[in-house]
Amino acid sequence: MQKLSIHGGVPLSGEVRVAGAKNAALPILAAALLTAEPVRLTNVPELNDVTTMIGLLERMGARARRSPHGVELDAGAVTDPFAPYDLVKTMRASILALGPLTARFGEARVSLPGGCAIGERPVDLHIKGLAAMGAEIAIEAGYIHAKARRLKGARIFMDSVTVTGTENLMMAASLADGETVLENAAREPEVVDLARCLIAMGARIRGHGTDVISIEGVERLRGVEHAVMPDRIEAGTFLAAAAATRGTVTLTQAPVEALDAVLEKLREAGASIDVDRDSIRLRMGARPRSVSLRTAPYPGFPTDMQAQFIALNTVAEGTAFVTETIFENRFMHVQELRRLGARIEIEGNTALVHGAEKLAGATVMATDLRASASLVIAALMAEGETVIERIYHLDRGYERIESRLGQLGARIARLS
Ligand code: EPZ
Repeated sequence: MQKLSIHGGVPLSGEVRVAGAKNAALPILAAALLTAEPVRLTNVPELNDVTTMIGLLERMGARARRSPHGVELDAGAVTDPFAPYDLVKTMRASILALGPLTARFGEARVSLPGGCAIGERPVDLHIKGLAAMGAEIAIEAGYIHAKARRLKGARIFMDSVTVTGTENLMMAASLADGETVLENAAREPEVVDLARCLIAMGARIRGHGTDVISIEGVERLRGVEHAVMPDRIEAGTFLAAAAATRGTVTLTQAPVEALDAVLEKLREAGASIDVDRDSIRLRMGARPRSVSLRTAPYPGFPTDMQAQFIALNTVAEGTAFVTETIFENRFMHVQELRRLGARIEIEGNTALVHGAEKLAGATVMATDLRASASLVIAALMAEGETVIERIYHLDRGYERIESRLGQLGARIARLS
């Protein structure tokens, strides 16, 4: 099993281009199921999860032609609206096929996603929303079986803010009969990028980016060419790594407007940040100051950056209080960071991070995607060598991480 070896202590410096967003690419790939015409996507990140989603669509009968950072999909020949357990268990986001399949084919059989390292993660709001649009839903043998001659518009209030739930229902509603209103909808930039793609396909959507989205259903959707937005979590991860190593880094093709909460916390930590149209330059000249934070749905502080900021706080001046409000089990990286000498206490859903002068290299294990990113940041700061095991977690969400960090001066290598 592949590992990463990192020798820490080098301030990162240089320039790196931000890749396309995983969490925008996945729903947009699923949206190809909504039309029989070709969908051409560019700025597609080359990640294991993207390959899994394309594999799932092909398994249903879609044709896919890949090119560097691009894919052309044709779901005209889809015959089997079925998402099997063996694929869904490797990637929960496969649930994003449920809405489009039910809307276009009147039927879908999608495996229920199992448990996840970071939390229970039910999909009850996805199912309730489809039922509100008139779908008959049965859960049989671990599968969600949805049926509807044609979905009907409905007013749907979602108890809690769900990103993929909003995306699934927005896609389903785009082919429904009548108007659907999603209340307490997710406002994430990836939801907006999906809405933009759907509108270019002929969907009638208003309010995307706010907590009330209304969708007037249409008979059919057409093909589209769409460039996936840059990845704000990847951008935030590189910036946190630059701050943690007291480096100077410029990000190009950066989703500047989607990073307010993260940039504000980096400035609070003492970073000087210059922002341009689509580039961000960060310089950290001294030891970071500890920053406390509370995760929240967008535009609040993203839960997908929580682990990286815990790593940053492990060597900061002072004590930080980091509260996780979205997922009930998202501190798995803490135990591993302690192996590098970090001083962290957990009280309920808050981590108290007492800044240490320095960390020391050791062997650690990645437990989920963002936890592995926090271990990479800690290793870049630590004295000596750190070996990170189970880096397949990292490859799910970061493209060629070792060569891009190497480009910034990091001493990093992949070990097989
Ligand atoms: C998306 O997951 C992202 N994944 C996650 O990124 C991200 O952490 C999360 O949104 C929150 O920002 C993708 O976009 C593919 P939610 P999602 O539904 O949609 C509860 C990463 O690292 N909930 O917004 O699955 C749920 O348990 C990944 O890239 C219900 O109770 O998250 C959680 O507590 C990890 N019932 C909360 O809502 C439901 O039906 C938010 O989850 C749905 C969700």
